[in-house]
Amino acid sequence: MGSTARFGIHCVSPYHPRMLADEQIAFFRTQGYLIVRGLLDVQACEGVRARMWEDLPARVRDRLQANPVGPFAPAEESTDSVRFRQGYRWLNRALGVSPAVIDLIYGEAVQSIAAQLLGGTLRAVTQDGVPMGSRGPAWPDGPVDPALGTEAARGVYCTLPYGDVPKQPPSCHTDGHPMQLGVVGLLADIGPDGGAFTVWPGSHARLFPLCALRYDQPRIPYYDHLPSLRGIVHSPAYLAEVARLNRDGPAVACHGRAGDVVFWHHRLAHMAGHNYGDSIREAVLADFWRTDFDALRCQPVSVDMWADWSEAVRSSDGVYSAAFAASQGLPGGV
Ligand SMILES: [Fe+2]
Repeated sequence: MGSTARFGIHCVSPYHPRMLADEQIAFFRTQGYLIVRGLLDVQACEGVRARMWEDLPARVRDRLQANPVGPFAPAEESTDSVRFRQGYRWLNRALGVSPAVIDLIYGEAVQSIAAQLLGGTLRAVTQDGVPMGSRGPAWPDGPVDPALGTEAARGVYCTLPYGDVPKQPPSCHTDGHPMQLGVVGLLADIGPDGGAFTVWPGSHARLFPLCALRYDQPRIPYYDHLPSLRGIVHSPAYLAEVARLNRDGPAVACHGRAGDVVFWHHRLAHMAGHNYGDSIREAVLADFWRTDFDALRCQPVSVDMWADWSEAVRSSDGVYSAAFAASQGLPGGV
């Protein structure tokens, strides 16, 4: 099975490593996310998009190119968790371990920023290794578990336009699998209502202490005859805070241009945005963590939530300008 490739070795991007400015680090620390514009090579984004489309059955590709509005018709669906098409979601996890995606999202441009935020040594990814979804759902009828057999990126995640439907309320969550830093790379331009990855600024600091574990979320065994509790268990305080976030916001849709990248803290509330636009939302999702992560995850949540991050993040004063906040889509500035 595949070869182990340290980040960046296969990078073909002409983009060089980036270093974040103090204000960018401060914003990330305070708000839990950071949009870096134009980070990815747009040509490489196009290459990944082409692979996504090539991987579709011809009849489905022809239909989507003629009319991208979802949902998928029953005859167009695929319940294969590695190449999933159902409803408005089109997920290609096989591409997550492909050289094209690894070059793009684990190339020097992204890696250098992840390293600047996390410090330490970042885990290696495996080219042509096991993709997410290879082991099926995390529990019966549950979602695919990103922690199982994901040897590089999560994959390419697309959302078809909803068409003429009533707008739906926001519904945020935090991810249940252990990781430190999430990354969403935009493969195509996306408008404010086009299904962009949506975040709740500052929610990472509120939710982190309400979780039982520092990185994981407790799982409960599944029993056929006791179906009310399944999968992930949350505390009443966590659920109350999530309800408050959904009610009060604010939420920021991280829209932008192909090549823009969103970095986000693992406890940040987020959702895959509803796509009320005219075109398909196409993005690549990936996770980062340090090689000493298995020791870090054993620490309790009572330990400073930034203790596992770089000195640059730990020492940041968290202060940024109103203009910078506006550039990050934060309503009302700071
Ligand atoms: Fe998520």
